[in-house]
Amino acid sequence: MRIIVTGGAGFIGSALVRHLLTSTDHQILNIDVLGYCSSLAALEGALDHARHRFAQIDITDGERVAALLDEFQPHALMHLAAESHVDRSIDSPWPFVRSNILGTYELLERVRAHLARRDTAARQSFRFLHVSTDEVFGGPDDGALLDEATPYAPSSPYAATKASADHLVRAWHRTYGMPTIVTNCSNNFGPYQFPEKLIPLVIANALAGRPLPVYGDGQQVRDWLYVQDHVEALCRVLEWGKPGATYNIGAFNPRTNLEVVQMVCATLDACVAVRPAGLDSHAQLIRFVADRPGHDRRYAVDAGRMRDELEWRARHPFEATLGETVRWYVEHQDWCREVGASEVAAARRGLGGGA
Ligand SMILES: NC(=O)c1ccc[n+]([C@@H]2O[C@H](COP(=O)([O-])OP(=O)(O)OC[C@H]3O[C@@H](n4cnc5c(N)ncnc54)[C@H](O)[C@@H]3O)[C@@H](O)[C@H]2O)c1
Repeated sequence: MRIIVTGGAGFIGSALVRHLLTSTDHQILNIDVLGYCSSLAALEGALDHARHRFAQIDITDGERVAALLDEFQPHALMHLAAESHVDRSIDSPWPFVRSNILGTYELLERVRAHLARRDTAARQSFRFLHVSTDEVFGGPDDGALLDEATPYAPSSPYAATKASADHLVRAWHRTYGMPTIVTNCSNNFGPYQFPEKLIPLVIANALAGRPLPVYGDGQQVRDWLYVQDHVEALCRVLEWGKPGATYNIGAFNPRTNLEVVQMVCATLDACVAVRPAGLDSHAQLIRFVADRPGHDRRYAVDAGRMRDELEWRARHPFEATLGETVRWYVEHQDWCREVGASEVAAARRGLGGGA
């Protein structure tokens, strides 16, 4: 297949591109604007690969997207490009509205026009796979598992823009018959994640001997999924998923934020000889700080449809892959320096101004 991946220089997109190149024969056209959190280093081995082509393009630039569609004649588009950090969306929602809503709209319209020029078989076998988040559901207080029928109730500007995009994607299926599929995934972790996100942020601060901020009481629950599990799930959805359907992707692995931070500290204690001055454990750096406004208490995705209909389940055990991930960041300090991990991790964002 010829597959367009958007956001392929980001954390999950680059893992997807690496996986597609090593585990399939597909040809990849990788579209990314190369924003503040992109990493070409995460595409090492891909950039000069014969089946990979990179185009630095903003997905809101419809004309350039249209030209690439006509030239590449894709069989599928996997849409991951997005502004992705909740705290930044609280401080500055516009880039989220622009990339996540308008960008998705532009892709849908350009793909629709492109497919109108293809034959019926190509139109029917095409897949527009939209990669979204469990945050669209908000965090129900009763702790219920979130399945595909859970109503949308996004709390943050980020979640609201992703929810909007999901609705657009589903509407393009119902109205125009475009073969779209939506996936809603839980929190990912793994290598090459920009250090504003919880796990690499904690690692960067701990290695610098700085306080480890834990929002509120740290009892917010998230379902953590290893990024490799996510990209394998996306490939399964692309192959087996039904047009018009939605699939929740998760690991049935709910953990509180505090638990995750403590596990990261325990791994650092085991793999880094030097302790911050005067401390016995990195966990002594943990500090509870003002919570994020609108912070959902709990997300726990029910990935039963993925398991029952698509025979997929997360196969990487949490403790082992979290340990591997922590060691990856410790061993890739060059990459961390290159992306400014220490400065990024030290900055507090998303406190909001109040209305
Ligand atoms: N990280 C998670 O835990 C998680 C969980 C569920 C869903 N998702 C979704 O998965 C996708 C990828 O997430 P990620 O963590 O890899 O994000 P990321 O921020 O690491 O990467 C996003 C990439 O998209 C690119 N991008 C943003 N706006 C663009 C535009 N207008 N044009 C072209 N490229 C643009 C960025 O340059 C970046 O390289 C997102 O859609 C996100 O909402 C992420």
